[in-house]
Amino acid sequence: MCGIVGYIGYKDTKDILLNGLAKLEYRGYDSAGMAVLDEETINLFKVKGRIAALRKRTEDTGLATMGIGHTRWATHGAPSADNAHPHQSASGRFTLVHNGVIENYQELKEDYLDGVAFGSETDTEVIVQLVETNYERYQDTAEAFRQTISLLRGSYAIGLIDREDHETIYVAKNKSPLLVGLGDGFNVVTSDAMATLKETDQYLEIFDQEIVLVSRHFVEVQKLSGTVVNRQPFTAQIDVSDTEKGTYPHFMLKEIDEQPFVMRRIIQEYQDERDRLKLDQDVRNAMKACDRIYIIAAGTSYHAGLVGKQFLEKMAGIPAEVHVASEFSYNMPLLSENPLFVFISQSGETADSRSVLVKIKEMGHQALTITNVPGSTLSREADFTLHLHAGPEIAVASTKAYTAQIAVLAILAVDTARAKGMKLDFDPLQELAIVANAMEVLTDQKETIEELVRDNLGTTRNAFFIGRSSDYFVCLEGALKLKEISYIQAEGFAGGELKHGTIALIEEGTPVIALATQENVNYSIRSNVQEVAARGANDMILSMKGLEQDTDAFVVPHVHELLTPLVSVVPMQLLAYYAALHRDCDVDKPRNLAKSVTVE
Ligand code: G6P
Repeated sequence: MCGIVGYIGYKDTKDILLNGLAKLEYRGYDSAGMAVLDEETINLFKVKGRIAALRKRTEDTGLATMGIGHTRWATHGAPSADNAHPHQSASGRFTLVHNGVIENYQELKEDYLDGVAFGSETDTEVIVQLVETNYERYQDTAEAFRQTISLLRGSYAIGLIDREDHETIYVAKNKSPLLVGLGDGFNVVTSDAMATLKETDQYLEIFDQEIVLVSRHFVEVQKLSGTVVNRQPFTAQIDVSDTEKGTYPHFMLKEIDEQPFVMRRIIQEYQDERDRLKLDQDVRNAMKACDRIYIIAAGTSYHAGLVGKQFLEKMAGIPAEVHVASEFSYNMPLLSENPLFVFISQSGETADSRSVLVKIKEMGHQALTITNVPGSTLSREADFTLHLHAGPEIAVASTKAYTAQIAVLAILAVDTARAKGMKLDFDPLQELAIVANAMEVLTDQKETIEELVRDNLGTTRNAFFIGRSSDYFVCLEGALKLKEISYIQAEGFAGGELKHGTIALIEEGTPVIALATQENVNYSIRSNVQEVAARGANDMILSMKGLEQDTDAFVVPHVHELLTPLVSVVPMQLLAYYAALHRDCDVDKPRNLAKSVTVE
């Protein structure tokens, strides 16, 4: 949620900020702004809407060599130019961008800022007004900043500039991600290394409750107490070309097409020279030692977790439960004697998952994070990490990360089974190679799916997805994809459950998409289709080779029964993609959403 870029150096800062913000738009895109400090003053620009609008608004700006920028996903206060960041203190001396939520902003306002005129409805403005109040008292910006930060409760990544100080960007962080990028004669601040890769690939992690003073030639990390911290930078392992669309019209389509390649990369990364599974011995030991697995995730990752639970139980014989991260604290299950928590998260930054991680670590439990971003918060704070190797996923609707999560979970389950001495008639690497080929066949069939969409989903206001067994989990994901990007109200149901209420919504022509890739439920799911067809539904069956019937709308290639979600989801993703295109929706940046949800 919300993206921050800051730059201090000798080059013109405007384009660096705009290009960086454009790369961070996946974090929020309802409004944007930037402040640049030239020789005399701070120039502030704020717009409702996208970075493109900000670019236009800043066309005639003069040279400035430091500045901060922000792209917003509104939490407090509607998306508007007034509520867009940066925010300024009453005198205009201090300017600040923030990602996160200040939980005690009302208290701070009442206790310290009586009589101050506020220009926005945001929690953020409290921070910058406090800096000014503290400056009046301490007459030192670094101290005023430190005092302010120590009053904040909640999550924050902050960049502050002072009109009277042309040498420093003041930075602080708690829970929300922020990195400092290191250069020769310049330094940058960013929510994600991807945004400033063109400038540098050397980054410094910032930990919670640290303050960083970023100048052109040095960076000083301090604890809140003032103690200076020494830290070595790391090299960001991202290929710039992975963050570009290339010849594709949308990132989502590119990422759907990349799935066969991601499967092959996972096979490579999780295989040793003797073609055996390659996993960190510590992960293996933790998996072997636990008596129950608690999978914690949100959104699409939660759906991958549902599939993963099947692998862990069926292949490795470990009881597993899957929990929506945001609900876990309220409905915490009775934990087993020796639990292992598995966090599944594309971004590794989801605040709901992170708060569970913090809680269970306090309780003394072990955690494994499965993520696409190894240096992310969930990865750093867990005991172990498994990497998805999917490459940057930029479209808000997750596609290749979902299939990568399922593939890695399958490998984890088989590896655990083998470590426990269990005999399995299933070679995950070989089966995933078959999946990769099947995915390629599917991504070559875009026209068929586009036609299906044109004929069946063109003007509908709702759609239902039904499936049994693991097809049901894919239906949840298929429905989520469709509603996320096409705004068609879509729901996924267990085939047997639709008739217990929701069938009341079926009218003449209501699209019902049924998945039939599981032999043991092939008959029953087809009966469910008959039930809705008898009530006028426009049914479409997506089946698997070997189980198909002549009237089926689409047939996916045959893969191992346990891995069918990896292939049956591909036509679902394409269905959503073409439905969104057909309705002129913004495929990569659907309304109201953000890719990385760093607020609870
Ligand atoms: C957001 C995204 C979803 C994603 C979910 C969990 O809602 O829009 O696509 O599935 O967050 O994100 P994570 O990074 O933890 O997998």
